Amino acid sequence: MAGRFITFEGIDGSGKSTQSRRFAALLESRGEAHILTREPGGSAGAEEIRNLVLTGAPDRWSAETEILLFTAARRDHLEKTIAPALAAGTTVICDRFADSTRVYQGATRGDLRGKVDALHELMIGREPDLTFIIDMDPQIALARGLARGSGEDRFEDFGLGFQETLRHGFLTLAKAYPARCVLIDGNRTADQIASEIAAYA
Ligand code: ADP
Ligand code: TYD
Repeated sequence: MAGRFITFEGIDGSGKSTQSRRFAALLESRGEAHILTREPGGSAGAEEIRNLVLTGAPDRWSAETEILLFTAARRDHLEKTIAPALAAGTTVICDRFADSTRVYQGATRGDLRGKVDALHELMIGREPDLTFIIDMDPQIALARGLARGSGEDRFEDFGLGFQETLRHGFLTLAKAYPARCVLIDGNRTADQIASEIAAYA
């Protein structure tokens, strides 16, 4: 039996990593086979691409070039990590996936959604079974994210207006894919959010 494919999405600093880790811990406590992975990254080749796209000046890559880089990373991640795990019946929890490309590359710097969708269909062709979209105030999320000082802040460096456009993009996406997307209010404590999400485990 194929494993479940579950993704976490939302703007930078919204709590995806925190909640995906907590969801993994919940499955662990239940003895459910699972892996926790992330994008961009999650396989050796994709982690190398991660370094290219997340560091440097905001204008280092155009949105079009980013579509290619993120999709290349995703293809490697799918081939090497996600697809084998799902085939083995393992639940895959992934911190960001194709919805991030739809929003970050498809709807922030001109309307490139058609190109994102075409490349996705050609090279990825897989959607999650369940997606948690964590929604919250970009100002609070941005402050949280930058406070980490990860050095991977290329997208945070686009600023608050960019994060507001992203938030709107994720809300639109949640409406467009109601069968798999669950909208989560991120303006609460991590415990409150985790207990809401746990109901889907
Ligand atoms: P993301 O993966 O979406 O960027 P993180 O889970 O890394 O977000 O969280 C960003 C920062 O905010 C971290 O320092 C984390 O500890 C903190 N954080 C996460 N969830 C909450 C919450 N519900 N309330 C307050 N702080 C939080
Ligand atoms: P992530 O490490 O999840 O950042 P954060 O913890 O700040 O949310 O993701 C790295 C950045 O890459 C994030 O700013 C979103 C961006 N990104 C895209 O622009 N397109 C994509 O397809 C993906 C997967 C991520």
